[in-house]
Amino acid sequence: MTTKLNTPELSRRALLKSAAAGGVTLAASATVTAGATTAAQALEKETKENPITTKQDWNQVLGDGVDANPYGKPSEYEKNVIRRSVPWLTASPESSINFTPLHELDGIITPNGLCFERHHAGIAEVDPTEHRLMINGLVDKPLVFTMEDLKRFPRTNKIYFLECAANSGMEWRGAQLNGCQFTHGMIHCVNYTGVLLKDILAEAGLKTNAKWLMPEGADASGMNRSVPIEKALKDCMVAFKMNGEALRPEQGYPLRLVIPGWEGNMWVKWLRRIEVGDMPWHAREETSKYTDLMENGKARRFTWEMDCKSIITNPSPQAPITHGKGHTVLTGLAWSGRGTIDRVDITLDGGKNWQKARIDGPSLDKALHRFYFEFEWDGRPLLLQSRAIDSTGYVQPTKDELREVRGTNSIYHNNGIQTWHVNGKGEAENVEIS
Ligand code: MTE
Ligand code: CO
Repeated sequence: MTTKLNTPELSRRALLKSAAAGGVTLAASATVTAGATTAAQALEKETKENPITTKQDWNQVLGDGVDANPYGKPSEYEKNVIRRSVPWLTASPESSINFTPLHELDGIITPNGLCFERHHAGIAEVDPTEHRLMINGLVDKPLVFTMEDLKRFPRTNKIYFLECAANSGMEWRGAQLNGCQFTHGMIHCVNYTGVLLKDILAEAGLKTNAKWLMPEGADASGMNRSVPIEKALKDCMVAFKMNGEALRPEQGYPLRLVIPGWEGNMWVKWLRRIEVGDMPWHAREETSKYTDLMENGKARRFTWEMDCKSIITNPSPQAPITHGKGHTVLTGLAWSGRGTIDRVDITLDGGKNWQKARIDGPSLDKALHRFYFEFEWDGRPLLLQSRAIDSTGYVQPTKDELREVRGTNSIYHNNGIQTWHVNGKGEAENVEIS
C-alpha cells in the first residue's frame, strides 16, 4: 500500500470526470436533464432529488414516542460512524486496540461511544459499590476510599485529549494505513469530571521522601506505571465521569487516572491503588514497552509528554471529496501535550506553499483544537499536509526530520506531518513525499 510520490501529476481524464460530476445546483441539473430527456422525466427526477416537494414516510406517519429510546442512540443513517480495528495488528481482541473515526467527527469533543479503546486484558466489569481506591506506601496514613468517599472531595471539570503513545506507530517506516481513523485514531478528547489527585494524596499525607507514584489498574493486566510526584500534584485527576455521564466500562468504569498531556498508557483505567515511593518502579510498561529504541541501540525512556501534532481529517482516504471542484472545506485536529495550539498551517501542494488555517471553537490547554481551511479546488491533484505550532513555539516536524533524530526502530511518539494525496476524482490516499 506504500506509495511514494515526488510530483503530483495532473490527469486530464480525471479532471474532466470530476468537473462533469461537479457540484451543480438543482436548477442547473434539472435544466441539463430536461434537454436530454422528456419534461415529465425531468420533473420526476427533480421530485425524487428534492425531498422538500416530495411526500416522505416521515411526514406522513407518526414517529416513535418518547419511550422508544430510554438511552438515545445515533440515527440509523450514521451506522458507518463506528470504532474500527485493524485485524492483523494484534493477536486477540482482549489485548488490542480500536480506533476513533476522526473523519466522521467535528468540533473537539469525542462522543463517549466512539472513544478508541486500548485494553491489555479486556474490559474489566467492575461493580462500583465494591470498587475501592487504596493509597499506600510513603504516606502518613494509608487510606481506602469507596466511590462515595471520592465524590465528597471538591470536584473539577476539565477537557483533555488522551493519545496512546503508539498512535501513528504503524507509519514509522512509511505510509501504511489508508485512513486517518487508522493512522491517527488512537486519540479522544472528553470532558472529565473528577477530583484532583493532590487532594486525595493530601488526605493520606505525603512523607517528605515521597517522589513517585505507582497507579495500578483493577483489570487482569494490573496495568501500572511510575508517575513523578510533581506531575501528580500539578494537574492529575481521578475521574469518574466523561462528557457528563459515568465513564464507559471501556474507559475504566468506575474510576480512571487522568494525566493531562502525557501518554495514554499512564492513564490507568479501573484505578484501584496508588502506591507512593521514592523511586520509579521500572515496570514492564516503562521498560520493554513504551520506550523508543534509537538507531544506536539505546532507548529513550520516560517519554511522557505527547508532542505537538495535527491531522487533516477531511478530506482523507475514508472521506474523499465527493462534490467535484469548487468551494471545498478542509478540516482537522491539532493538539499538544505541552499546552495550547498557536497556529496550524496548511499546504495543498506538498509543502511548496503554506497558508494559515482557521482555529475554531475553544483553545484549551492539552485539549484537541479544531481547524478549518476553506479553498477553491480547481480539480487538480493535491498533496495535503497540516503543520501545527504549539504555545511553546514547538513546530510539528516532518517525518524525515523525525527519523533523522530517532531512526526507524520506534513504534511510539510519531508526531510527523501526514500527507494525503488527493487525485482528480477527489479520492485520497496515504502517501509520503521525499
Ligand atoms: N489501564 C488499565 N488498567 N489497563 C489497560 O490495558 N491501557 C492503557 C491505558 N490505561 C490500559 C490502561 C493504554 S495503552 C492506553 S492508550 C489508554 O489506557 C487507553 O484508554 P482508552 O481505552 O480509554 O482509550
Ligand atoms: Co496506549
